[in-house]
Amino acid sequence: MDTHDGPPPAGNGSALAYNSPLSPDRAARLVEQLAQAGPRDVLDVGCGWAELLLDLLDAVPSARGVGIDEHGPDIARAQEDARRRGLSGRVRLEARQADGTLPSADLVLNIGAFQAFGDVPTALARLRELVRPGGRVLLGCEYWEHTPSDAELAALWEGTVREESLLLPDLVDAAITAGFRPLSTQTVTRQEWEEYESGHMAPQEEWLARHPEHPQAGAVREQLDEQRTIWLRGHRDLLGFAYLTLMPVTGAA
Ligand SMILES: C[S@@+](CC[C@H](N)C(=O)[O-])C[C@H]1O[C@@H](n2cnc3c(N)ncnc32)[C@H](O)[C@@H]1O
Repeated sequence: MDTHDGPPPAGNGSALAYNSPLSPDRAARLVEQLAQAGPRDVLDVGCGWAELLLDLLDAVPSARGVGIDEHGPDIARAQEDARRRGLSGRVRLEARQADGTLPSADLVLNIGAFQAFGDVPTALARLRELVRPGGRVLLGCEYWEHTPSDAELAALWEGTVREESLLLPDLVDAAITAGFRPLSTQTVTRQEWEEYESGHMAPQEEWLARHPEHPQAGAVREQLDEQRTIWLRGHRDLLGFAYLTLMPVTGAA
């Protein structure tokens, strides 16, 4: 057996187009709707490898973009994708933490990354500050399908607390309280979740199937089994994911 043929990196999303539950169809519809508002610039906070940001720049040829993510390898992938798509000249991709220096924009994306701001209400308040009057925010955010019991919480990632997410109506209410009106409220399908979770694990699962006796196989198996257990015995049917298109309330009476 070739012990040099090590496992692919865990969860780097190499088999995924987007690093959130998001089908190509939904992505295309969201891009079309958001492009119709004619944003001059797009800010993506927690952009990952920035596929949706690049899709939007493709759809709005006059727009410029800024993507920020603290994970360097994802930003490197985003920069390579931008080069390949001929978009490098219109997008700035920064490997750094979201902080108080974020620029404002006509369209602000925050997908699967409210944690970049802290909790959900704090994220909504900051997004409200960052988006210009007349603009749009696309928030992609987890929500509880029902309030989790203690046993359900214990089956999730270590340290997960009930307060981390809201029920869907409370999430939309929180957006309204933060100064938005919801233009669109969409929740992902089971298929989108399944493709996302499976896609995250697939490269390592394939490696494990081919290298069951590799010195690193035990550690990889343990990590995959834990990840799959948290999904299939934990958050499946408990955690939803919503895409909210939000417009800031600005007008006088
Ligand atoms: C689930 S991924 C979503 C990535 C991307 N928005 C997408 O949908 O493909 C969440 C991202 O948020 C980033 N992130 C989390 N906290 C952050 C912070 N404080 N500053 C910048 N990025 C952060 C992570 O590095 C990760 O890439």
